[in-house]
Order: sequence, then C-alpha cells, then structure tokens
Amino acid sequence: MDLGLKGKRAIVTGGNRGIGRCCALALAREGARVCITARDQGRLDEVLHEIKDAGGEGRAVAVDLTTLASCRKVVGETVKHFGGVDILVNNAGAARGGDILELPTELIDDALSLKSYSYLRLSQLVIPHMRENGWGRIINVAGGAGTSPTSGNIPVSLANIAILNMTRALSDAVSGDGILVNTICPGLTNTQRARDVQQASADESGTDVETLLQELGSELPAGRIAEPEEIANVVAFLASEPCSYIFGSSIYMDGGGRRGTP
Ligand SMILES: NC(=O)c1ccc[n+]([C@@H]2O[C@H](COP(=O)([O-])OP(=O)(O)OC[C@H]3O[C@@H](n4cnc5c(N)ncnc54)[C@H](OP(=O)(O)O)[C@@H]3O)[C@@H](O)[C@H]2O)c1
Repeated sequence: MDLGLKGKRAIVTGGNRGIGRCCALALAREGARVCITARDQGRLDEVLHEIKDAGGEGRAVAVDLTTLASCRKVVGETVKHFGGVDILVNNAGAARGGDILELPTELIDDALSLKSYSYLRLSQLVIPHMRENGWGRIINVAGGAGTSPTSGNIPVSLANIAILNMTRALSDAVSGDGILVNTICPGLTNTQRARDVQQASADESGTDVETLLQELGSELPAGRIAEPEEIANVVAFLASEPCSYIFGSSIYMDGGGRRGTP
C-alpha cells in the first residue's frame, strides 16, 4: 500500500530513541521529511544519520519540551526548513511513578507539563499550518495506564487520560479541516524506558530486567511485549493518506492485554 507520505513534513517528539526514533525512521523510509526533537543532541544526531542513511531528509531541534517557547521553536524551525507541517507525532514522555500516599505532587506537574501540555501546545501551533493545506495528521502516543490507574503510576495515568480527552476534543475541532487526530496506546514496549520503569520491580524480586520483561510478556495473549517498530508501523499508517476514516480514536496496541471493552 502506498502510504502517500512522500514529501510530507513531520515532527516527531522524543525522536532520539525508543518509540519516537522508530516512528521517525518509519516516516522517513516512506519519504516524509522529519524533524525530530528531544533534549539529548548527541542521540538526535545519531538518529539524523540513520534517517539520512535510509535516504530520508531530517532536521533535529534539541529542546526541553516542557515550555511553550520550546514548542514554538520546534514548529518555527520545521516551518522554516520544510515550509510547513503536515504530521505531528506527539510522543515525548518521561513520567516518574511512586506510591500515591507519599507522592510529591510536583511529579504530577512534571508528567503533565511534558506529556500533555506539550502535546496540546504543539497541536495548537501546527494546526494553522495544516489548515492552510486542508490536510493534517496528529498522532498522540499515550498508553494503557490512562484507563488503568494503579496506586503507583498516577502521574503517567493522569497524563495519558488527559491525552485521551484532548484527542477527542481536538478531533471535533479540526476534523472538518481534513485534520485527523488520533491516539495510540502502546502496552509494554521494548525500550530503555520500559527497562528503567521495570528495574525497581526486577531488583525487588531479585531478577534481572530482561527476565522480568520476558515474564511480563509471557502473561499476555501475544506471549511477548511489543517491539517499538511495531508501534511505529501503526503510527505511520495513522499518519498516512489511506488512513482517512479514523477520527478521535484510541488504538490499543497491547498484545491483547487490555481486559476492558471495547
Ligand atoms: N515503552 C513502553 O513500555 C511504553 C508503554 C506505554 C506508553 N509509552 C509511551 O510512549 C512514549 C515513548 O516511550 P519510550 O518507551 O520510547 O520512551 P523513551 O525511550 O524513554 O523515550 C522518551 C523520549 O522522550 C524524550 N524526552 C524526555 N523528556 C523530555 C523533555 N523534557 N523534553 C523533550 N523530550 C523529552 C527523550 O529524549 P531526551 O531524554 O533526550 O529528552 C526520548 O526521546 C512515551 O510517551 C511513553 O509514555 C511507552
């Protein structure tokens, strides 16, 4: 299937590793021009090389996305170099967890300022450019925790549920302009973040994190955790021309782990 992404102009946040890196590479391989953003310039440069090696065109903007000024900078640089923005993949996230009875509320501020405020700010900033062309795709990477809070993960579950709400509201506001806004909710995915998050549990149970990830995966209907490339393939489809009738939806990619319906 031709995804119709040749020449499209994309921004991928958190694009220097994990799921974001794979999204940037998937879009670039389909011919999109991709601006990746995150804080670590060295890792951004590595992914830029990978994009170029794959025959793609990329830019990198190193910023901390928790401020409006940084979001403006990312969109401004993309418009300056690519002439507009057609696709936004909101993906950067780094929430820390902790026992809700002792949790400093600052951790909730941190989680929301990155994983929901930057998603909304960047969306607000790119939508005028998408409206100019009557076409756009916004894909928000959230996570299953939004609908399954636990006493230890409230910062990330609040950030994720905010994204689910925002996706629906934004979709209603811009669907008439040819702009599709959707969310993807990955389950446990094989990235450094997954290792970092699971390290404490691994230490507690006296096992190593690789073994723990395998055990967690074996409990899923899929029998394993996700690979970031699998999430990126679906993001690329959600960003594509043929994806023309998915509006304000949340796609769960969790290997069948979710018990709720739908
Ligand atoms: N992996 C999973 O199991 C899983 C499951 C469900 C949902 N998710 C979601 O999927 C997304 C990607 O996860 P991942 O596993 O790929 O994580 P990751 O490997 O830790 O990548 C996170 C990305 O966000 C960037 N980032 C972190 N803080 C930032 C800040 N203040 N400003 C700008 N960029 C920042 C990081 O780059 P720098 O550190 O260089 O800034 C990195 O590129 C996240 O939103 C996560 O919540 C992941």
